[in-house]
Amino acid sequence: MTVMPGVTIGNGAVVGSGAVVTHDVPPYTVVAGVPAKKIRMRFSDDIIAALERIRWWEWSHEQIKGRMADFEDLETFIRKYDVSD
Ligand SMILES: CC(C)(COP(=O)(O)OP(=O)(O)OC[C@H]1O[C@@H](n2cnc3c(N)ncnc32)[C@H](O)[C@@H]1OP(=O)(O)O)[C@@H](O)C(=O)NCCC(=O)NCCS
Repeated sequence: MTVMPGVTIGNGAVVGSGAVVTHDVPPYTVVAGVPAKKIRMRFSDDIIAALERIRWWEWSHEQIKGRMADFEDLETFIRKYDVSD
């Protein structure tokens, strides 16, 4: 894939192989093609909002390792870690 200068790829976005990304890609969006276009969203708006609150990617490696099993089921993961909901 090629990402043009100044373009931002949002958290959790997926860029298809061979894509040329010319515009910002919003969080949790799947894009592909030349130029890259949206194919679909990965999750519902509610799930995306919860993941953006949890921000698990900012956890330490230790924390992620310790919580690895919780990543297997998204619903349970959100129930457990989305404390601000
Ligand atoms: C991008 C990708 C993840 C999309 O998977 P998907 O959501 O299951 O999408 P589909 O395979 O159902 O395809 C949906 C549409 O997008 C098109 N498309 C999919 N991948 C494409 C690509 N790499 N380039 C151009 N078009 C693509 C398909 O032709 C299809 O078009 P249509 O609706 O007109 O028939 C996957 O096809 C892919 O490219 N995987 C390999 C690369 C990869 O894993 N990238 C992630 C790295 S972070």
